[in-house]
Amino acid sequence: MQTLWNRTSPLPAYPRLEENLHSDVAVVGGGMAGILTAYALHARGLRVVLLEADRLASGVTAHTTAKLSAQHGMFCERLLRDFGLHLARQYMRANLDAVEQFRALVREKNINCDLCDEDAYLYAAPNGPNLAREYECALLLGAPARLTRPEGLPFPVREAVCFERQARFSPLRFLAALLPGLTIYERSPVRDIRGHAVRCDGGTVTAEQIVVATHFPMLERCGLYGLRLRQERSYLLALTGAPPLSGMWLDAGAAGWSLQRSGRYLLLGGSAHRCGENRGESYDALRAQARRLFPAAREALAWSSQDCMTLDGVPYIGPYASSAPFLHVATGFGRWGMSGSMAAANLLTAQLTGGRYPYADIFSPQRFFPSASISAFLEGAGYAVRGIGRRLFVPAQTAARDIARGHAGIAAWQGKKYGVYRHTDGTLYAVDIACPHHGCELTWNDDEKSWDCPCHGSRFDYTGRRLAEPSKAALRPCTDFPQEV
Ligand SMILES: Cc1cc2nc3c(=O)[nH]c(=O)nc-3n(C[C@H](O)[C@H](O)[C@H](O)COP(=O)(O)OP(=O)(O)OC[C@H]3O[C@@H](n4cnc5c(N)ncnc54)[C@H](O)[C@@H]3O)c2cc1C
Ligand code: FES
Repeated sequence: MQTLWNRTSPLPAYPRLEENLHSDVAVVGGGMAGILTAYALHARGLRVVLLEADRLASGVTAHTTAKLSAQHGMFCERLLRDFGLHLARQYMRANLDAVEQFRALVREKNINCDLCDEDAYLYAAPNGPNLAREYECALLLGAPARLTRPEGLPFPVREAVCFERQARFSPLRFLAALLPGLTIYERSPVRDIRGHAVRCDGGTVTAEQIVVATHFPMLERCGLYGLRLRQERSYLLALTGAPPLSGMWLDAGAAGWSLQRSGRYLLLGGSAHRCGENRGESYDALRAQARRLFPAAREALAWSSQDCMTLDGVPYIGPYASSAPFLHVATGFGRWGMSGSMAAANLLTAQLTGGRYPYADIFSPQRFFPSASISAFLEGAGYAVRGIGRRLFVPAQTAARDIARGHAGIAAWQGKKYGVYRHTDGTLYAVDIACPHHGCELTWNDDEKSWDCPCHGSRFDYTGRRLAEPSKAALRPCTDFPQEV
């Protein structure tokens, strides 16, 4: 999927792993989190091998909006309530420091990545939520916040909480400047980690320490991440011809519109939903909003992606599980993984080099705050029960002959349910409708023409090819499915 960042990717290509290696650290996953961590560890003198399944930064990082900000939506009041002042301040400080570190790195290495200071606004539309309490909490946490009533914007705003001097940038151009000197292997998916051995098809890296930065943690044996993460998908348009806009804007209301400039483009984001719950109107809603706000603008690009959300809304960064002290994880950035990845690199570098990171406690993957986590945990369990129950007990609702070209449905054949897509050329493609991860029934995403899993966010195209983890397997196609039923 072409995005503003990857359509002219500045990243060089790297070879596959075709030998066995030893290193101090193996970093698995070459997105923002993995590359920043590998860079920071290498800068501390460690021998690091970075292993990427596909191309560097081809995952969520290439599909981001690229706000570099400690303003993370309506979060200050929630953080204070769920974690208390001490830990909530750690979160704020970690992210404010991270934004400063991006700036410092860009200055120090003279990186040409369009980094540009911007104020970050959480805004309320005229009928939106009251932001006074959120503002007070932001101040308590130490944010550079002010409450303001901005005027002259191309969209209606009643009030806004502004975090001053945050930033935006071009993420892939930034990352490209960190790569020289790193040992990197691309198209080398890690198949398994056993003890200190990280196994790819072409070779094994044996490392003292291992960092898993694979977006959804790839190891299911420990840490119970499958029970603690869900994925949320959101959509973006890059518009040309829109009026100038300064600042980065995020709607505090349910629609959650996001607006910011990048060069000659205006990025409009929104339509977020739990993966597997797309009603097929996500791009339509975004396009309708673009027409309402910027009638003269033209759409240059459209893309979407999904990020992992934790039970309590704070990333899991630190030891992967208490049983494996040499294994570390960075995940669950909740759509704020630019600053979050820098926090991850800081925390993991301290952890792996015997140093101290002052904000580690709030990110500990082993934390459990009942008031923040229980309802999300129960909701996740409910999805799993419903997803498996629907597959086993609810009959197929569609007859394959009724599926229109370019659409899909769940149809029965010989007593079994299949996900059936009718291609625009009329051909039917049938796949097993059970998610290979834990067996939930998949749902059709008409915007992306994909089968998506509401339980933990695996995705597959209509032929069954895997598009997104945590499933490691593709869907089984049913090649016998009759073309006329
Ligand atoms: C639509 C959208 C907009 C966003 N906007 C913002 C924003 O404005 N500001 C912000 O701060 N954050 C934003 N985010 C969040 C941010 O983009 C992500 O949190 C961040 O990019 C995640 O980086 P990552 O390194 O964890 O994951 P990824 O970039 O997905 O990297 C993980 C890498 O691991 C690789 N991998 C997976 N499995 C294996 C394996 N077995 N072996 C080897 N490699 C493997 C993948 O191929 C991938 O390259 C947004 C997210 C979305 C979805
Ligand atoms: S059952 Fe977990 S992703 Fe589908």
